[in-house]
Amino acid sequence: MFRKVLFATDFTRYSMNALRYVIKLKEAGTEEVVVIHVIENATLEAMVESCIWSKEDVQKCEEEIKEKVISEAQDKLKSVKEELEKHGMKVKIFVKVGKPAVKIVETAREEGVSLIVLGSHGKSRIEDVLIGSVAENVVRHAANIPVLLVRG
Ligand SMILES: Nc1ncnc2c1ncn2[C@@H]1O[C@H](COP(=O)(O)OP(=O)(O)O)[C@@H](O)[C@H]1O
Ligand SMILES: [Mg+2]
Repeated sequence: MFRKVLFATDFTRYSMNALRYVIKLKEAGTEEVVVIHVIENATLEAMVESCIWSKEDVQKCEEEIKEKVISEAQDKLKSVKEELEKHGMKVKIFVKVGKPAVKIVETAREEGVSLIVLGSHGKSRIEDVLIGSVAENVVRHAANIPVLLVRG
């Protein structure tokens, strides 16, 4: 039923808690996991801001920072991949840039997954909201794809 699932992570303890449930899904027949991390445009823009003071080529400075941020995320995803592979899963990883909820739902459709797994919360420290904003928007737009939100 859940042969192929998508797991979205912002690398917080909430999403890493959700990873434990992705591993458990093996018992429900899950064989393949698509793991995605989305870098927000605003995050990248804030990081490249210092480039205006760069004595070198500003564009080059921006490219270098972007590449570094993407490759750091890729490294973190690789360790998630290894963890899942240890449990016998087939794994694909994606780092995308844009609006997290949009990219998560878009990728879930492109990959034809039958379940999306997320933590209930993420980086914002307001724990008394029922669920975080990315979680809410994924649930809102996932339409016919079920979403598993793990509270941690
Ligand atoms: N940038 C992101 N890339 C991939 N997954 C994300 C991203 N941001 C949030 N998520 C997923 O959504 C869950 C809920 O996070 P979020 O809704 O952003 O909460 P908050 O509003 O507290 O930051 C996270 O545990 C993670 O699974
Ligand atoms: Mg967030």
